[in-house]
Amino acid sequence: MSKRDELNKLYDKYHDNFQGKEIVLGDGNVECKLMLIGEAPGKDEVRLAKPFVGAAGKNLNEFLGFLGIQREDIFITNAIKYRLSALNEKTGRIINRPATKDEVAANRDYLMEEIHVISPNLIVTLGNVPLKSVMGSYNISIGTVHGEMKEVEILGQRVNLFSLYHPASIIYNSKLQDVYMEDLKKLKDIVENI
Ligand code: URA
Repeated sequence: MSKRDELNKLYDKYHDNFQGKEIVLGDGNVECKLMLIGEAPGKDEVRLAKPFVGAAGKNLNEFLGFLGIQREDIFITNAIKYRLSALNEKTGRIINRPATKDEVAANRDYLMEEIHVISPNLIVTLGNVPLKSVMGSYNISIGTVHGEMKEVEILGQRVNLFSLYHPASIIYNSKLQDVYMEDLKKLKDIVENI
């Protein structure tokens, strides 16, 4: 079975399991060397049925531009493949909310299989949620492991993992911006050699 067929089969299972959710599946080149994993899709992603579009997509394009990578060459997905929404009682609007530990756990098997099918040379996680999911541990935190290469075992396969702060999280935190740029420089050296 081709990677695309295996992925479609996995995504069918995902749809069955998470019926009624606003699902956005992974997107991109299944033959990629680099796989990016974010947290969860937002409103724009649901509307366009594609991860990292709208404001997050703009961030991502800057990120990829710095690394000298084309979006078409990588695969992009999320640790949780549906919008995490909540009602803001004050405004009556639907807003995004953080993932719960149970949601991360319930999505993890799908993410593991997705990584196994894609089988990239390098995974880059953006933020805490995909990091915790890939590592299978809630005790690990981006603040201590960002900018480091790790080897993880995923369904019997060894995969390199590099974790970054989520690009959105640094926008309003000027202290993190320098740290993030240092991490990006390290990542640039790594991706040039994968
Ligand atoms: N959009 C995504 O698809 N994932 C994120 O983590 C943020 C925005």
